[in-house]
Amino acid sequence: MLPKEHTIVSVDEENPQTKTIYVGCEDMPKPGQFYMVWLPGVEQKPFSVAGVAPLRFSVCAVGPFSSKFASMKKGGKVWLCGPYGNSFSLHGKKIVAIGGGYGAGPMRYLSLLAKKQGVEPVLIIGARSKDRLMKGENGMRTVFATDDGSQGIKGNAVDALKGVLKEGKVDVVYACGPEKMMGAVGKLCIEKGIKCQLLLERYMKCGFGMCGQCSIGEKLVCFDGPVFGAEIVEDVEFGKFHRDCAGRKKIL
Ligand SMILES: Cc1cc2nc3c(=O)[nH]c(=O)nc-3n(C[C@H](O)[C@H](O)[C@H](O)COP(=O)(O)OP(=O)(O)OC[C@H]3O[C@@H](n4cnc5c(N)ncnc54)[C@H](O)[C@@H]3O)c2cc1C
Ligand code: FES
Repeated sequence: MLPKEHTIVSVDEENPQTKTIYVGCEDMPKPGQFYMVWLPGVEQKPFSVAGVAPLRFSVCAVGPFSSKFASMKKGGKVWLCGPYGNSFSLHGKKIVAIGGGYGAGPMRYLSLLAKKQGVEPVLIIGARSKDRLMKGENGMRTVFATDDGSQGIKGNAVDALKGVLKEGKVDVVYACGPEKMMGAVGKLCIEKGIKCQLLLERYMKCGFGMCGQCSIGEKLVCFDGPVFGAEIVEDVEFGKFHRDCAGRKKIL
């Protein structure tokens, strides 16, 4: 698949580090899927779909590629390959979607889709502090959680999930964010017998199962995922190792 050129149609500041970039592209990928974004002269990196019509990505500036992408303005050009990977599967009557950091982007998209399909979503958005929180979604029940208590409940996304679970039955829990957070969410759901789907990240090169760069145990995140059932938290590499750009195993 060759990268296709697209124009940025608008940019929304979520917080000082994170922008949501809207791209003039009519694709309708599913929540959980990702695109390989190519910026010529910089690199190519995977980004999760944070919404459609227009297609959007929530980008947190942490290094060279993400800083360049997050600094782009309306009219800028990006090249996209995708969509790649599997997606979240929506079922049940009541769901909880948990987004840690920029993971709130794909979770907002999933929640909107759930609402349209008559499923009742509760959106949990977590971050270290208020200045790192992503925005909520209009008309959606949203619980904010910050580690320092500067907005919403004082505690992490898992504390917020425990609060929602006390209110009544939840059919499925979905999460995207730091692996430590997803590990705690996955373990809690296994313990309570609640279905759970997690969106994983690994360093990716090809994005479609050729290079082996994105492995976690026996699985490839780009090809077998990026969405996995909660059992993935029991994999020996989950929350512990990833591979760097040279394929070396590194401690997370
Ligand atoms: C399936 C998939 C979906 C993804 N979706 C998104 C998305 O929606 N939005 C997004 O912003 N990124 C997303 N990423 C991550 C993205 O592809 C890049 O890895 C990330 O933007 C960092 O790239 P970089 O070149 O800017 O920094 P790098 O040079 O790779 O990293 C710079 C420094 O930041 C650290 N770092 C890397 N990633 C993170 C992180 N996530 N949080 C904190 N520190 C980090 C590194 O350890 C390093 O020290 C996704 C990755 C995958 C595999
Ligand atoms: S990124 Fe190449 S196999 Fe997954």
